[in-house]
Amino acid sequence: MSRIDAATLADLAALANRAPSVHNTQPARFALDEEGRILLAADLSRHLGIGDPSGRDMGLSCGAALEGMVMALAARGIGVVVDDLWEADIRSWRPGYRLAARLTATGEAMPSPLAEWTEKRFTWRGAFSVAAPDVIAGVERWAAEAEDVTFAGGPDALAVIAALNDDASLSVMRDRAFRDELVAWMRLSPAHPAYAFDGLNLDALCMGRLEGAVAGRVLASPLFDLADRLGLGKSLVAEAGKTRTAAACLLFHRPEGESPVVSGRAFYRFWLGFTRFGFAGWPMAVLADIPSASQALRQRFPLPPDHRLINVLRVGPAPHALAKYRLPPHDLVLG
Ligand SMILES: Cc1cc2nc3c(=O)[nH]c(=O)nc-3n(C[C@H](O)[C@H](O)[C@H](O)COP(=O)(O)O)c2cc1C
Repeated sequence: MSRIDAATLADLAALANRAPSVHNTQPARFALDEEGRILLAADLSRHLGIGDPSGRDMGLSCGAALEGMVMALAARGIGVVVDDLWEADIRSWRPGYRLAARLTATGEAMPSPLAEWTEKRFTWRGAFSVAAPDVIAGVERWAAEAEDVTFAGGPDALAVIAALNDDASLSVMRDRAFRDELVAWMRLSPAHPAYAFDGLNLDALCMGRLEGAVAGRVLASPLFDLADRLGLGKSLVAEAGKTRTAAACLLFHRPEGESPVVSGRAFYRFWLGFTRFGFAGWPMAVLADIPSASQALRQRFPLPPDHRLINVLRVGPAPHALAKYRLPPHDLVLG
């Protein structure tokens, strides 16, 4: 891949890093090896030790950024072969990094039709606008043709998913360590030095300044446990009202045993796929991560038996678009 120098790699990395990542941690880093191949590594300082003990979400996030890099290279006519290095768990390359993939140029590539949607894709965490029935029907048809997407639509289905999500969220938020880790990635004041660069800021959380200040205080203290003991825990985490405004929910599932890097690549393609219909997405990872929630979902919405549920997204039109908050390109490449 001799055509790529360090400056070009930073440009490509910035495009790749438009991909979604858990808590907007942006763990994917890129480097060139001696043969000029691109290496992708996870920055372990951005791993969520409590929320993601196995590192799966970090692997999914790296996979999504990898798909972004493959699309960015294809837009320049460069085709690559990808070696998935995730399962080998190589941490000896450089201290503090885990190798995720190696990209070797193989020749020419055609641009991906999904690439133009990377700028328009975003997470919307508020109430959705009303979707036109023919657009919802278009998403349903698209989902029916995909082997890794199951469509769940209509008020009953949305109500069931909304309730399961609130129950599952409360069960994880009862863990103080989980809340502390989440709050550490929240940027609840525009004065936060990383406000525009990573984590979840007020804009991304659809919160005003006062709401953000209160949320930070309550989550990062025993106040949450106190409120929970008084029966108010559910109302502190409740999203059901907003969930029910979604046009539909999409269950995203991949073959059991698949590498998270491969699943993450597919996850990004899936998200870009419904972005084409003008829909934003709002994941509910707890529905896949909490076994009781995932089992309840599978009973109501049968998935292929050899597939694992990866995430469930509320989808629909957002009232307005959101900016991307990302690290500067030079932070994404390792010299
Ligand atoms: C593996 C994975 C899991 C995620 N889970 C959640 C989730 O449970 N709740 C949520 O609000 N966002 C979730 N997200 C979305 C990220 O927070 C979001 O992609 C990130 O903040 C960047 O914002 P953007 O999608 O608008 O570019 C997840 C993203 C990934 C890649």
